[in-house]
Amino acid sequence: MTNDLKLAINAAEHACAVIAAGYEQRFEISQKEDDSLVTSIDQEAERIIINELQKHSQHAILSEESGSLTGSTGFTWVIDPIDGTMNFSRHHLPFAVSIALMDGEESIVGVIHNPLTNECFYAERGSGTFLNGSPVHVSQNNDPSKSILFYNFGSNPQDRRRIVQVVDQLIYHFDLRTWGTTAWELCSVAKGAVDGLICVGDKLWDFAAGMCLIREAGGLFTDWHGNAWNSSHSYFIASNRAIHAQLVERVHFLQAK
Ligand code: IPD
Ligand code: CA
Repeated sequence: MTNDLKLAINAAEHACAVIAAGYEQRFEISQKEDDSLVTSIDQEAERIIINELQKHSQHAILSEESGSLTGSTGFTWVIDPIDGTMNFSRHHLPFAVSIALMDGEESIVGVIHNPLTNECFYAERGSGTFLNGSPVHVSQNNDPSKSILFYNFGSNPQDRRRIVQVVDQLIYHFDLRTWGTTAWELCSVAKGAVDGLICVGDKLWDFAAGMCLIREAGGLFTDWHGNAWNSSHSYFIASNRAIHAQLVERVHFLQAK
């Protein structure tokens, strides 16, 4: 395990302790400029993660609540202190801490930790994906009638219309769900409990760590055309690989660019 992965696991653990304690207490909830929510616990967890990461690395930082900090290595930590803030704010499950290390467009370390169940998924380039130390793999299912698929979407009305069209394409063939936390949905795909996730409109911090988990668990992470994802847009399909071509075939024409 590299030092960067150890560092990310440790930072996520510290943040999870604060989130689990905060869940039992009163916390402040405010609305951001884009109308999404942030709680005082998101902010405290983010401060802890950034402090831990900065103590032992010089990588740049991109974090949901506080933006960008420069670094000196060419690598960037991408942090979501709580993915599923809406769920957390309503005491609705699930939600998770998500920390990735990016080398350009490639996610090379991913850690997603659920503070209430203490399940910690982690991966790094070339080493597989693990849940609390045990390897996990995507499913092998390629039969839509036996499938579970997640769909997810950001707040932009155009993206929401796209997702309605995606649902219309898929709902007669696949079993569809959404949990309100892209990061934790990606963990379910990585461990083989769910076969895929189709998403548009999310921000990099929602899925950066999950990208690494999916790839290292044997899955595919592409845009809706089946091409390698790139940061010029937010369209992605993460799947078990076996069902990927069928998903691309049904939704590729809905990707706007
Ligand atoms: C949200 C979650 C949710 C997705 C939203 C995201 P946040 O992240 O990932 O699943 O539908 O678009 O904003 O705000 O809870 O970190
Ligand atoms: Ca968040």
